Amino acid sequence: MGNYIIAIDGPAASGKSTTAKGLAKLLNYTYIDTGAMFRAVALAILEENIDYQNEENLNELLNSINIEFRLIKEVQNIFLNGVNVSDKIRLPEVTKLSSIIATYPAVRSKLLELQREFGKNGRIIMDGRDIGTVIFPNADFKFFLTGSTRIRAERRWKELNDPNVSLEEIEEDLIWRDKNDSSRSIAPLQKAVDAYEVDTNDMSVEEQVNYLYRIIEDKR
Ligand code: DC
Repeated sequence: MGNYIIAIDGPAASGKSTTAKGLAKLLNYTYIDTGAMFRAVALAILEENIDYQNEENLNELLNSINIEFRLIKEVQNIFLNGVNVSDKIRLPEVTKLSSIIATYPAVRSKLLELQREFGKNGRIIMDGRDIGTVIFPNADFKFFLTGSTRIRAERRWKELNDPNVSLEEIEEDLIWRDKNDSSRSIAPLQKAVDAYEVDTNDMSVEEQVNYLYRIIEDKR
């Protein structure tokens, strides 16, 4: 269907990626998880033990790393310098650092370039924080997913299914990350004025996917 660029933004664990994946399948589009790209940069910093507060060191790292997506059995996997890091980037220390380094202009401009390149031919669904506002301000469709912190934390907690991690810890992490992502001066988490806001509190994944799909069908 069409050759659209579809932007899905919203806070952490608002269901962006599950919705985006479902929609990509329905439309036969490519899905790009931009959060995974920030996570990959954070992982590279941790693995190479880089002092990211030193501009020169950070630039050197950014100029030397390679980030790619490859489809394996219909699932998008992310590769850092040729290595599949799809699982590693979900570790808590990587998650926290990804939000910290996302405030650095050098990191954002490197990833902005890559994201625009990935999306240039359309038929793409990209999720993140600034896709509809900064990366593709002219996207054909923009959605902004929201949900209460408690419900988002519960979803993440169930997904994680780790008896060592409490719901409260996850909720605290989400609150910290949302605040950090919305308060930065460069490309903060923000609803684009022309984005459809979708409150996911009482919606299943299937309902979210169908809701977005119907909006796209109706406008076509
Ligand atoms: O979507 P996620 O939770 O995987 O994203 C991890 C972090 O990356 C998030 O806390 C902030 C940053 N991020 C960003 O600043 N801009 C994006 N478009 C996507 C993610």
